[in-house]
Amino acid sequence: SHRIMLGPLVAAIDQGTSSTRFLVFNSKTAELLSHHQVEIKQSFPKEGWVEEDPKEILQSVYECMERTCEKLTQLNIDISNIKAIGVTNQRETTLVWDKETGEPLYNAIVWLDLRTQSTVERLINKTPGRNKNHLKHKTGLPISTYFSAVKLRWMMDNVDEVRKAVVSHRAMFGTVDSWLIWCLTGGKSGGVHCTDVTNASRTMLFNIHTLDWDPELCEYFGIPMEILPRVRSSSEIYGLMKSGALSGIPISGCLGDQSAALVGQMCFQDGQAKNTYGTGCFLLRNTGAKPVMSEHGLLTTVAYKLGRDQPACYALEGSVAIAGAVVRWLQDNLGIIGSSEELEKLAASVGTSYGCYFVPAFSGLYAPYWEPSARGIICGLTQFTNKSHVAFAALEAVCFQTREILDAMNQDSGIPLTQLQVDGGMTSNKLLMQLQADILCIPVVKPSMPETTALGAAMAAGAAEGVSVWSLNPEDLSEVTSEKFEPQINTEESEFRYARWKKAVQKSMNWET
Ligand code: G3P
Repeated sequence: SHRIMLGPLVAAIDQGTSSTRFLVFNSKTAELLSHHQVEIKQSFPKEGWVEEDPKEILQSVYECMERTCEKLTQLNIDISNIKAIGVTNQRETTLVWDKETGEPLYNAIVWLDLRTQSTVERLINKTPGRNKNHLKHKTGLPISTYFSAVKLRWMMDNVDEVRKAVVSHRAMFGTVDSWLIWCLTGGKSGGVHCTDVTNASRTMLFNIHTLDWDPELCEYFGIPMEILPRVRSSSEIYGLMKSGALSGIPISGCLGDQSAALVGQMCFQDGQAKNTYGTGCFLLRNTGAKPVMSEHGLLTTVAYKLGRDQPACYALEGSVAIAGAVVRWLQDNLGIIGSSEELEKLAASVGTSYGCYFVPAFSGLYAPYWEPSARGIICGLTQFTNKSHVAFAALEAVCFQTREILDAMNQDSGIPLTQLQVDGGMTSNKLLMQLQADILCIPVVKPSMPETTALGAAMAAGAAEGVSVWSLNPEDLSEVTSEKFEPQINTEESEFRYARWKKAVQKSMNWET
């Protein structure tokens, strides 16, 4: 049959909290040629616990790769044109496996998991002045249930198999990127155990200034350094695919999903920012070559390091734990919608929450509060309130949470953002995007190609030394076409609603004390 001639192609594995995707791009035009997506099961074995099955995660990657290759073949596109694969992933989620059997030793503890709440409270109480920012000068992070170190500590304390494997030098720790790269490059027969600086910066064991594991931090959490993956840049050849249709292709890009979205949105300049609406919602602002410490509850994180000899770039990050997750909750737990599309219709049918406020603090509150004991509340109910109002309040919650982190970001940097670049699954909800512009009082701008996370990882993979099919020169990067949402309500109205939201947040805090 007739094969279409294209330039080199670049692919990305996007392993998110809710789903896995494999996507293939044309490296000349950044056009998305084909992709496949598979949902990931989350289990909630106890209140506050969130787990995923490492093998299911790996299987989903293989399945997405196979299906995408089939689709490309149907399009008469030769898969041998794929020159590089990037990996991007949900961050912080913690795995331990046995390097001799290749078997995971426990489920993956997902970033949202709250089981370490009491450990975290104990650690904070032990610091001088009960200061949750005690380790921030090295890590850029507050001590919180969110990051990997406490999850890993929990596994070592509570899972026999993990403890035994650590003692007998058979344990390997990794975030999802490490697990995938190790498996895809051969697993127990020669797999590469590595991570990149962006993922490492979310563990609380990594010094964001020296860009290496920090012996003092490892000591603090009691983590033996030999179980840690080697830290590499975000764009270099880590290893080659060992099996399947893509066998032999280099894996040469690796970034946490929020960093990848920053790259995919081409936010390479100091001051540029993006907000991604996934399971959670994450606003990152590039601060250039120097890490800026927040005074307003934001994180300092490594944004990317695109090549072994390239400098690292840093970002300020506002993290919101629950965004898309509230939609899934309305669907699975309350059953008031059958799909995420229905949420938009239901909320649009009323066009107001009618004074109802919903703080979805299911995993405590992240930025700017970092309050693990917060719990979700729906308040302001009357006999008049119905499920449409609750649906509307859920969408507004995503917007208010973004407003809180944008305010913090503006205060930290002193230069307010004049518009917000957005991406992620929820941005297909036009009502949400309009609400977001209304609540921020600035325009919201969405690229027409929504898969910016995958694009960023593919770009990093294609730009790696030894692959070099993609230039990251800003002049060579094609302009992204976009859609813009302008604020449509007046500032007083917006401020009134935001003030109410803040009152609701206060009510959600310190729920257990
Ligand atoms: O820090 C968690 C984040 O990386 C998860 O992203 O897209 O799965 O919500 P997402």
